[in-house]
Amino acid sequence: MNKRENFGSRLALVLAMAGSAIGLGNIWRFPYLVGQNGGAAFVIIYIVSCFVLVLPIFMAESIIGRRTRLSTFGAIKKLAPGSPWKWIGLLTVITPLLILGYYSVVGGWSVDYLWKACTLRLTHNTAGLFPGFISSVWEPLIAFTIFLVATAVIILLGVKNGIEKFTKICMPALFVLIVGIVIYGLTLPGSMEGVIYLVKPDFSKIDAGVVAAAMGQAFFSMSLGMGAILTYASYAPENENILSSGVGTTLADLGFALLAGFAIMPAVFSAGIQPGEGPGLVFDTLPYIFSQMPSWIGAILGIVFFLTILMAALTSSISMLEVGVAYLQEEKGIGRVKGTIIITLIAWVLGIFCSLSFGPLAGVKIFGLSIFDCIDKLCSDWLLPLGGLLFTLFVGWYMSKADVRDEFTNHGTANVGVFSVIYFLMRYIAPVGIVVVFITNLVL
Ligand code: TRP
Repeated sequence: MNKRENFGSRLALVLAMAGSAIGLGNIWRFPYLVGQNGGAAFVIIYIVSCFVLVLPIFMAESIIGRRTRLSTFGAIKKLAPGSPWKWIGLLTVITPLLILGYYSVVGGWSVDYLWKACTLRLTHNTAGLFPGFISSVWEPLIAFTIFLVATAVIILLGVKNGIEKFTKICMPALFVLIVGIVIYGLTLPGSMEGVIYLVKPDFSKIDAGVVAAAMGQAFFSMSLGMGAILTYASYAPENENILSSGVGTTLADLGFALLAGFAIMPAVFSAGIQPGEGPGLVFDTLPYIFSQMPSWIGAILGIVFFLTILMAALTSSISMLEVGVAYLQEEKGIGRVKGTIIITLIAWVLGIFCSLSFGPLAGVKIFGLSIFDCIDKLCSDWLLPLGGLLFTLFVGWYMSKADVRDEFTNHGTANVGVFSVIYFLMRYIAPVGIVVVFITNLVL
């Protein structure tokens, strides 16, 4: 077997984890969910979920990964030999494939829109552009394939030369780009209404559905529940303080989601568009806004904006692919190149169906949902929370408290004071929170 690679430094680890966390979930999903769920009240519940629900699960995955230095399947097998817990491993082989397929379809949209922006097609009349585009056959398929191949190329380069180098360049660039967009957005007339929408809560809007949506989004956004964080933590440098990388990633992800909200909502309000419009919000409304500006500003902003989305999406999709590749490498002895090709091909086939489900396959319904929506819902409402639940139960109830404490505190040298708080959250609060999400999803 090949010698196992590690990240070169703690900065590299945090950037890679933040890269996985920050993605389409922040820029594409978060703003439209805020819009659909009543603005600031949703944002507040989201922030609370990040720390009470998500951070403990993040810690659970980090503990398993760093303790064993193996990817999910092997890690669970090593910690719980011969027990039924090994089925968590199976879940973390299936979920990444499903997610990678449909996530790459949306990644493909950002490739296509970047191309449109570069060829100045976003500065003209854009009415109906998005629905027309996603329901066509070839253009989204080609863009999706380009996105998936780009993901595979980075993974082929390896942990240090691929993931580490790419995220080190992209993450600072992303931050600069999004701050630039926020500042520009705030100068637009009428943009203050968007800011108020994001900061002034109307608590009458909160119901069980809003709470469940906020928790589910926090989960998806932090890449939890399928072993992506676990796998990255298994490449952590020896002396890494896993609590600080967890808190760092949570703050970065949360901060970026809020920045994306402040980049998008003021512009949406300024253009007089409804914030609750749904998944098309980013792809439909921003080009409209760009087309209203003096054409050279619109052109530059369009390129910057879709480049930002594309980079964020790629630093996330590589983490999904890495989970499967690490599994094949460690458990099946399949080399990195072959493993990457196998997983990419399976995700490609799945993604083709997802992409076509906006056009020729729109009539195919599973439980009343299109193929794309069905996989999206299956993963974010069920499989990821289920994975997260099993990870916290595993660390909170199966592993011995002494082992958990030893790993969490770096053998008693760090984080000793907060251990009992996080342990309590892992054992009780996070599992109960997830079960509440499940019940709400079932009832609604
Ligand atoms: N967190 C990423 C986003 O917000 C998506 C993502 C990457 C993900 N890896 C994951 C989601 C693993 C769930 C599980 O775009």
